[in-house]
Amino acid sequence: MKSLPQSLARAARGLAVLTTLLLLGTGASAQYLQTTMSATETPGADADTLVVLVPADTEQLSLPGWSQATIDHVNRALATRDFDGSARQQLELLAPAGLSADRLIAVGVGDPAQLPRHVAEEIGAALSVHIDGSNADIIEVNTRLITDPARNAGIAAAVAHGVDLRNYRFDQLKSSAEPRPSQIYRWVVHSQAQAEQQYAMLDAVAQGVFTARELTNLPGGDGHPAAFAEYAREQLAPLGVEVTILGPEQVEAAGMGSLLGVSKGSQHKAHLLVAHWRGSSEAPIALVGKGNTFDTGGYDLKTTDSILQMQSDKAGGAAVVGALKALAAQQVQINVVGVVPLSQNSISGEAMLPGDVLTAGDGTTIEVTSTDAEGRLILADGIWYARDRFEPRVIVDIATLTGAKVTAVGTEMSAIFSEHDTLVSTMRQAGELTNELVWQLPLGPYPGIIDSRIADIKNTGSPGAQAGAIFLQHFAGDTPWLHIDNAGQALASSASGIHPAGATGHGVRLLTEWVKIYAAQAQ
Ligand code: BES
Ligand code: MN
Ligand code: ZN
Repeated sequence: MKSLPQSLARAARGLAVLTTLLLLGTGASAQYLQTTMSATETPGADADTLVVLVPADTEQLSLPGWSQATIDHVNRALATRDFDGSARQQLELLAPAGLSADRLIAVGVGDPAQLPRHVAEEIGAALSVHIDGSNADIIEVNTRLITDPARNAGIAAAVAHGVDLRNYRFDQLKSSAEPRPSQIYRWVVHSQAQAEQQYAMLDAVAQGVFTARELTNLPGGDGHPAAFAEYAREQLAPLGVEVTILGPEQVEAAGMGSLLGVSKGSQHKAHLLVAHWRGSSEAPIALVGKGNTFDTGGYDLKTTDSILQMQSDKAGGAAVVGALKALAAQQVQINVVGVVPLSQNSISGEAMLPGDVLTAGDGTTIEVTSTDAEGRLILADGIWYARDRFEPRVIVDIATLTGAKVTAVGTEMSAIFSEHDTLVSTMRQAGELTNELVWQLPLGPYPGIIDSRIADIKNTGSPGAQAGAIFLQHFAGDTPWLHIDNAGQALASSASGIHPAGATGHGVRLLTEWVKIYAAQAQ
């Protein structure tokens, strides 16, 4: 227990820090986070918690100003627990001798020259869990033992980013929510300017991830097509993204009967969200995301518990909105257009029936052999619309499309499909950078896989994930195209790594990095 005078003193120190704090990033995090991040080149004296990032080659842990007694105490404790600075190690010392902080946490970062960004993020996430489970209020993270100036800034920013990613909470539907993590973090770095600049870039990504998580977490009744589109507009328009929302009449007038069909059974009719970031005057990169705001399966009704996760069937669309938000906040000089077809797949006397034939925007007639294969129906028109109206140089779509994908590659990676080597290789690079891994599956040959007796094509076939991909390929035409099936990756049943429980925001980090890697490589 803290004695009263101590906690008063701490509160006073907290206020002093807050008033002098130079907040990192845009400050937009405040919408989703209650922690504060700042960078400095000089340590303070007011932190209750001192964290030191320790490279693996550190012979003796020591910071400027430490007495010999402190150094002896700290290093004896580290040796006792075999702490050697390898990445992800964490060791806490309470009441460290000779230090004013109440606790010292040594955090291993391995070889800083070899530390992947996503591992630095995971180190930050683990730190935030530790901190939030303690009574720490003011945390000073000393990174200065990472001596290379560029790496110092990059690692400090990535660890801070990991803290942020883990600290998101979806609590808007709680009548009295648990307090969110609300600590003050101060990062002692080699270059304040460089650390701030790197953190601002990652903060933009975090904001995109939070927007996607928020959209994905919304229950079906709240996050219906119009609500999804409005939330996206609120998030994107202030950043200079041009947002257009087509309502049901406009979707119908444009001839998008495939998109329209899926929502026919719902009071929440089809919408199409278009979000355009004109970062350059070149032909755009198009991102198309599945925005099925709830998937009952339709008359091919889902009859297992899996239906309880189908509010997350809008995660592809949410990832596209999140990526647009991140790219706009980063002010990238790339022309990117996001297209999100929005539907709610449910049942009523108006609903599409198994066996119905829909006519897509490009004129293709589609036999609906399963009303539960609705994702490809809405994406068909989304992809066509992107191609027809924007003449993009490339199209990437992302969708929680098939259970077959989960069977094939599980939930630790996405399945990707494409005939374009540059697209596949750049997506792999983005996957490795973000740890949102991808694995390529074939597009064939699977002769006749979606042939229909009565219409041009049908919406199911076997193998299942490939049938979905080949169906979408039809609508991409000759535009270079890649499909990401991220079924099973939108929701986490429990917190782990950079993810709290619930929506992961999967795809935002992958798409954001991919757009930049692709734009740099495919001139
Ligand atoms: N939204 C589902 C896919 C899905 C499955 C997402 C598991 C997340 C977790 C999709 O609309 C669907 O129902 N797919 C069917 C297609 C089938 C009827 C051809 C499936 O995979 O079972
Ligand atoms: Mn379905
Ligand atoms: Zn679905």
